[in-house]
Amino acid sequence: MNKILLTGDRPSGKLHLGHYVGSLISRLQLQEKSEYDSYIMIADIQALTDNFSTPQQIRANVYEVLKDYIAVGLDPKKNTFFIQSQITELNELTTYLLNLVSLNRLRRNPTLKREITEKKYGESPPMGFLCYPVSQIADITLFNSEIVPVGEDQIPMIELTNDIVGKFNKIYNTNCLKTCMAYLSKTPRLIGLHGRAKASKSLGNVIFLSDSSEVIKKKVFSMYTDPTHLRASDPGKVDGNVVFVYLDAFHPSPEVVSELKKKYKKGGLGDVDLKNILNDTLQDFLAPIRKRREKIVQSDLEAIIDNGNKKARTIAQKTIKKVRSAIGVNY
Ligand code: TRP
Repeated sequence: MNKILLTGDRPSGKLHLGHYVGSLISRLQLQEKSEYDSYIMIADIQALTDNFSTPQQIRANVYEVLKDYIAVGLDPKKNTFFIQSQITELNELTTYLLNLVSLNRLRRNPTLKREITEKKYGESPPMGFLCYPVSQIADITLFNSEIVPVGEDQIPMIELTNDIVGKFNKIYNTNCLKTCMAYLSKTPRLIGLHGRAKASKSLGNVIFLSDSSEVIKKKVFSMYTDPTHLRASDPGKVDGNVVFVYLDAFHPSPEVVSELKKKYKKGGLGDVDLKNILNDTLQDFLAPIRKRREKIVQSDLEAIIDNGNKKARTIAQKTIKKVRSAIGVNY
């Protein structure tokens, strides 16, 4: 039997280069392997946990995210795309799983902790937000997913998933929930345009897959380099230099990047020239994606989702039946 792969993204905005190197690239590789059945979920319920007062923003981005998937080359014939809110069994499984996780355990989760700080929730994060990792465990386990292609920030979620799966199976004397593994890409984390923080839509430091050629250029030229590198002839720092981070991630030739690094360190390569090289690299990378995106027809997207929701629902119903019978809530 094929292994199931499940992953997803919050539709709080369009997808960006961080999504690409962190997770989309793994999905593109894995869709070529016949031993996996791939489920890709647009996590609108999870997106609502920190955007509950602007649901129209989430709704507007559901199909934008699907367009990004198709535009980067994820094939609807090789992946099942579905929308989280349309699979109501997820809510039921979340309810059962909530009993197995303590508030303190959630508060200690490093990813959640960082997000709570970033979103300035202080001591009183909304319960929905605090509990989204539990809903994410339901996402993974309801579909029997054994492999989860994600960025580095999701690793604590996978660890939590496996702990809770163990606990569930032990308490209810069953094996109906499966443990899973994270699948990390070569660059599981991309820093933002201005250094330090990771690329994140909410921090406004990202290049979207759908950005126009002018916007890409503007963003590249706003990138943080080495503040002590004032003249082209000065030796420059490569470590912590955002332009090099993006060149490492997107330039087709590592040898060329390595030559550029040598030259930059020695002195003789100016920031404007360097940024022009990165701009060309990203323009070449993003132009075909943008072109494919523009050709996508809305009715095709709706058909893809209808189909995917149906397929996802079939698995969901099977697992929830087993879960109910394990707990004894099957009358
Ligand atoms: N937390 C993921 C993100 O922020 C989205 C997500 C929701 C997810 N459910 C998932 C990822 C299940 C992997 C598996 O992008």
